[in-house]
Amino acid sequence: MKVVVIQGPNLNMLGLREQNIYGPMKLEDIHSQMEGYAKQSSIEVEFFQSNLEGEIVDKIQECIDDANGIIINPAAYSHTSIAIRDAIMAVKVPTIEVHISNIYAREEFRHKSIVAPVCSGQITGFGPFSYHLAMVAMVQILSEVKAMQEAQNTQQAAAPKQDK
Ligand code: DQA
Repeated sequence: MKVVVIQGPNLNMLGLREQNIYGPMKLEDIHSQMEGYAKQSSIEVEFFQSNLEGEIVDKIQECIDDANGIIINPAAYSHTSIAIRDAIMAVKVPTIEVHISNIYAREEFRHKSIVAPVCSGQITGFGPFSYHLAMVAMVQILSEVKAMQEAQNTQQAAAPKQDK
């Protein structure tokens, strides 16, 4: 099982940008924490960051054949990008939206997430720990998906064969 973590614009600046909102942790440190948890759960994880909307759309599209789950912080694109929302809908890979800050406690233009309705769920406001919570939730989703697939396979194997 593989999870792709997609980070939107300006998240490469974590540790430098607005520490009062996002804290002092760098993106690499957040990623190594996530990787630790994923490894314990035997999940492969790939990290991707881009400041460009089209590159994020391309990465989501690649996930159709390549990933079982997506964890995404679309950053400012959360509030504007119909293209990212459409890509998530198109690939039908379980997706969790993450925010470091509590977007509902900030400026009004951040209160609406365009991508939230096409995600399995949203985690917002726990600082960098939001990413860890998202990974925990993703591991749970993937274990449910696996259990469902196994149950379907058992049912198919037990079903009487039809005469040709
Ligand atoms: C953010 C919240 C967004 O509103 C903002 O544009 C970001 C970061 C967060 O993680 O809290 O860049 O997604």
